[in-house]
Order: sequence, then C-alpha cells, then structure tokens
Amino acid sequence: MNHKISPSLLSADFANLQKEIEMINQSDADWLHIDIMDGVFVPNISFGFPVLEHVNKICQKPLDVHLMIVEPTKFIQEVKRIGAYIMNIHYEASLHLHRSVQQIKEAGMKAAVTLNPHTPVHLLEDIVTDLDMVLLMSVNPGYGGQQFIEHSVEKVVRLKELILKKNANTLIEVDGGVNLETGKRLIDAGADVLVAGNFVFKSPDPLSTISALKHL
Ligand code: DX5
Ligand code: ZN
Repeated sequence: MNHKISPSLLSADFANLQKEIEMINQSDADWLHIDIMDGVFVPNISFGFPVLEHVNKICQKPLDVHLMIVEPTKFIQEVKRIGAYIMNIHYEASLHLHRSVQQIKEAGMKAAVTLNPHTPVHLLEDIVTDLDMVLLMSVNPGYGGQQFIEHSVEKVVRLKELILKKNANTLIEVDGGVNLETGKRLIDAGADVLVAGNFVFKSPDPLSTISALKHL
C-alpha cells in the first residue's frame, strides 16, 4: 500500500464540482489528477486555468497536472499559479525536453514527462535521472473511460528496469483504463501512482472505490 492514488477530475460531475472535490478531500486519494487539453495535441478540450484556480481553492490534496497541449512550457507560470504540485508534459510535445524540465523545477514544481502508448521508454534513458516522475499513458490521451492498453504493463516493467539501472528516484504513474484488476497488475509490475477517472467517479460509492484502489 505504498502506492499513491490520483483520481482524475475529468470524469467528475462538473455541475457539482465543489461536492466532488470535497469528496476527494475526505478520501484516501493522495493527489488530484487534472487533465488540461487544447484540442490540438489531443482531439478534445477539457478545462482551463480560470476553472482550475477555483479547484485549487477547494482542493486540499496536491494537484497532479497533466498537460495534453502543444508547447506546454508556455504555461509554466499559469500551472504554478493554479497550485500544481507536479507538472506533467508530454515527450511528444517537447522539442527541448531537458530545458523544459529544468524550467518546471526552477518554477518550484516537481517535473514529470508523459509518454503516449506508442513512445518507447528507452527514449528517456538520457533524462530519467532528472525526472521526479514518468507518466505512462495506458490509453490514447484525450478521453476518459477508454479501454486499457495491455502493452502498458510490460512498459512499466521496462521503465522500472531503466530507473533501477540509472539509480534514479523517479516515480512511475500510469493513466488510463485503471480499475482494480488492471491496477493490481500495474502495481505488481512496479507502478507507484495510479490515475483513475471513470472507475472512481462513475462508481456508486467513489470513497470506497478510492479506498479499494489504495489498498490493492
Ligand atoms: C486521458 C486522461 C486521463 C483520463 C483517465 O486523456 O489523461 O487522465 O481522465 O480516465 P479513465 O481512468 O476513465 O481511463
Ligand atoms: Zn491524465
């Protein structure tokens, strides 16, 4: 039970956002996962900084912010301002990843790099020691409620091997299609943080669902 749970706000009831966040505050969740989309990097748009400013006022858990946008470094200061604890940027959206990671850290946040399902983990070989976390996408980014891509379990194993080989302290987070069954296999493979959207927010009792994920 050393792993962390980061419920994804994307699947919450937006008409009752305050109630949903208060539920997260009372839950066993470690973080709150925030998905920001631009309609360019991914074929969907979620929510932006004016909404998240209010989320930050209510949420008592650290914010785990996942940017599915092009040119993510343009928004480092805004992400900091909405209270992000950790800022996740996509490998596929970053031309100068090393510089971007340093800029995130200089702004006072933890830095994480996210890999799409098709991006191999060995591409992180020369940067993994600089990262606080790697976020592996186990669905194609853009929507909640998609089917888990099986290949992701094997990627966790390979990433864990790379982290150990490099003597790094990098956490492994997995995002997409997580439930009790896939979550258990991801933890056994070496994942440190599980993101879960639909499985938490669409369940009849989200508090006990979060607790079940936490006690995997
Ligand atoms: C997908 C997002 C995920 C999403 C996960 O683009 O990055 O965080 O909310 O949702 P579920 O857990 O429903 O697959
Ligand atoms: Zn996400």
